[in-house]
Amino acid sequence: MPSLQDEISRRRTFAIISHPDAGKTTLTEKLLLFGGAIQLAGTVKGRKAARHATSDWMALEQQRGISVTSSVMQFPYDGRMVNLLDTPGHEDFSEDTYRTLTAVDSALMVIDCAKGVENRTIKLMEVCRLRDTPIMTFINKLDREGREPMELLDEIEKILKISCAPVTWPIGMGRALRGIYHLIEDRIYIYQAAEKGRAGTVATIDGLQSDEAGEFLGDQAQAFRDEVELVRGAAPEFSREEYLAGRQTPVMFGSAINNFGVTELLAMFVATAPGPMPRATTSREVAATEEKLSGFVFKIQANMDPGHRDRIAFMRVCSGKYTKGMRLFHVRLGKEMRISDALTFLAADRQHTDEAFAGDILGLHNHGTINIGDTFTEGESIMFTGIPNFAPEMFRRVVLRDPLRMKALQKGLDQLCEEGATQVFRPLRNNDLILGAVGQLQFDVVAFRLQDEYSVQATFDNVNVFTARWVYCNDAKKLEEFRAKAYENLAVDHSGALVYLAPTRVNLQLTLERWPGITFRETREHL
Ligand code: G4P
Repeated sequence: MPSLQDEISRRRTFAIISHPDAGKTTLTEKLLLFGGAIQLAGTVKGRKAARHATSDWMALEQQRGISVTSSVMQFPYDGRMVNLLDTPGHEDFSEDTYRTLTAVDSALMVIDCAKGVENRTIKLMEVCRLRDTPIMTFINKLDREGREPMELLDEIEKILKISCAPVTWPIGMGRALRGIYHLIEDRIYIYQAAEKGRAGTVATIDGLQSDEAGEFLGDQAQAFRDEVELVRGAAPEFSREEYLAGRQTPVMFGSAINNFGVTELLAMFVATAPGPMPRATTSREVAATEEKLSGFVFKIQANMDPGHRDRIAFMRVCSGKYTKGMRLFHVRLGKEMRISDALTFLAADRQHTDEAFAGDILGLHNHGTINIGDTFTEGESIMFTGIPNFAPEMFRRVVLRDPLRMKALQKGLDQLCEEGATQVFRPLRNNDLILGAVGQLQFDVVAFRLQDEYSVQATFDNVNVFTARWVYCNDAKKLEEFRAKAYENLAVDHSGALVYLAPTRVNLQLTLERWPGITFRETREHL
């Protein structure tokens, strides 16, 4: 039987970061296909076929053609256990994406070879930087005319400020694509456009200097060999140490839709990506290999499966091992909970699990007692840090069409808040419900889900709120005085915390100046 240490060190937990349309969904599907997790391509992405999508639960997703939910997919590959955490692609869902990135040990960046580094990639890269998350790069759509590979590498280095170590190099591009050359293996992988959904094997040629390679490359042989020389001279060699430190990204090329370059990517990934990393808590660093279980909740999702109508808290296991029926200590509540029915996400099929190890994601059934950021241990009072909560930038007042549905509305909003899908503020002075979001699309999703899952028809009105600040003060008297004076602009959030809703920038400025003894925070930290 493999030891606890073996089980933990073979985990590879990662997420894909990319700009919408670069090919994340397609690549996810192909990784699952090559990982043997699904038999036929087209399972993850069934948009055109209107089939049930594995990684997309919501009807809205199909309607809009964007990824709005995250999921977890686990599959074994080459002796490793891979956990792929899917992240929503649309910008308005960055909160969810950012939190998911706190739960991984490395990331895979997908770049469209014709478009290069795009906005969203830049933002996501900044988030990865906060924890020096190691990044592997896949330059996709090689079957299309793209930009010069060297130019793409330069752009990544300049804009994302990370050194690039090419691992594979394209032989031609677009219609002229012949294959890729693996610089570490000294091997050519010959390109063949994929037949639909075929996992197939690719023909290879060993040695760039071999006669066979010469024959294959024909009159391009000399030019390509020179190009490779140049690349080797100009770009750094792959260094695992540099990669793990987040300073260098290994770069591979391919065409996800044609199943090309994906097996090589997966092989490189499982061989070099980091296993479960140590994590910071309020009092000490927790090593993944510690015997005792610990973990934190980075995401809550309601009604994942309309057939189940449940809420699942996604917990990243940071150390130790989970076994069915064990008792977990809910640190924030100071309470023990017996967990007998945690879920894992093998091949995107939710199933009950008997065990899970550091690096894995567990789905805990949540009956309202679990929040994003909560820590679970076997008894130790530590709390994992660094799970961000974001300041809303847009505000709307909820208008309920049918006043009799008020209860259902409250329940729906409570649950959507718990998921972090929106934030609700209740002004002290009236019964309004004010929603805060990071982007417009979030409101659309809230409206859609209220209707779809809670049969509540709601619309949103503009409201005179510029920004929100969480109010903290140790001096009870001072706080009381502030409460009385600022009553008109005060509200409580989902958890009951006091929030100042500033109608204008000027008002905020004046309030900050007038109340030096009060702390105004842009976010409520999930501590
Ligand atoms: P995303 O999740 O990052 O948003 O990207 P997604 O995989 O949905 O891919 C975006 C578009 O790019 C899709 O086309 C997809 O088929 C295409 N694509 C992905 N990989 C490759 C590739 O290697 N080569 C080429 N040529 N295209 C690729 P679409 O027309 O927007 O969607 P669909 O009609 O295929 O559903």
